[in-house]
Amino acid sequence: MSEELDALIAGLTQPQKTVSPKYFYDETGSGLFDDITTLPEYYLTDTELAIMNTHVDEMTELIGEQASLIEFGAGSGMKTRLLLEHMHAPAAYVPVDISEEHLLESQQSIQADFPNIEVIPVAADFLHPFDLPNPRTMPRRNVVYFPGSTIGNFERDDALELLRVMHTEAGEGGALLIGVDLQKDASVIDAAYNDSAGVTAAFNINMLRHLNREFGSNFELDAFEHRAAYDVDEGRVVVELVSSKRQTVRLGDADIAFAKGESIITEYSHKHTLDGFADMISAAGFRVGRVWTDQKQWFSVQYCVRD
Ligand code: AVJ
Repeated sequence: MSEELDALIAGLTQPQKTVSPKYFYDETGSGLFDDITTLPEYYLTDTELAIMNTHVDEMTELIGEQASLIEFGAGSGMKTRLLLEHMHAPAAYVPVDISEEHLLESQQSIQADFPNIEVIPVAADFLHPFDLPNPRTMPRRNVVYFPGSTIGNFERDDALELLRVMHTEAGEGGALLIGVDLQKDASVIDAAYNDSAGVTAAFNINMLRHLNREFGSNFELDAFEHRAAYDVDEGRVVVELVSSKRQTVRLGDADIAFAKGESIITEYSHKHTLDGFADMISAAGFRVGRVWTDQKQWFSVQYCVRD
């Protein structure tokens, strides 16, 4: 807890203040994120699901028989279910998450609908290598699943490190199935992170409520504004909370001073090119085996194999 507080204070006392996007996801934040996925402007979820629906047979053909599906982040959503439904005699489903609560939820909901698949939750921080369980059926291949373009939250070096952990967990003959959002017209991306219903703004502001509750800080929710803009040169959305006045916020033992207009970066959402992502994946020891996209090439699902 105090290590977490130290990291938060460190991020908030840099010239450019930052807070990790992991603090979006308290109960309210997770609910707001679910709402985001149904917004007309938020093309990511629908587009990825459509790609999965169209190509799931080909995906599960490549995954092959008796594979173990290792999801980074506990899943229970439609994409995970779709894969499990179509996989050929899967050896196991292994959700990996730092939150015991999310794991239990995932295990219960998947196990209820797939009584014949062995579900083995693993509590781990997947940013670092962890031990995989041994399913009753010996897997012929480990396939790491990382949907949702969550990889976009990570800056290049961190993304590479995470992909290397996936490479380790995939093991010999293993693979990675990953959802990757693609570069496109800035207006489309800007709209996705500035929805007209204001749900993304509420999601961003809720982070402050979460910090206040969990760390006893005194952020004034009305004194910060949501901002999100696509930086074309960097290929990423920068999501910020902008202080609408000069103010000081107390967090632990720290007094954090804000100038009027000063911001906290709460999230990056990187958008990739197919070539750029292929380079990154190969630096992590994978080779892109197959890429599926939608017709507009807005989003991709990529099957990467260990070299
Ligand atoms: C869950 C990281 C994929 O980057 O689009 C949605 C989170 N932030 N709207 C994304 C998010 C604002 C989302 N990811």
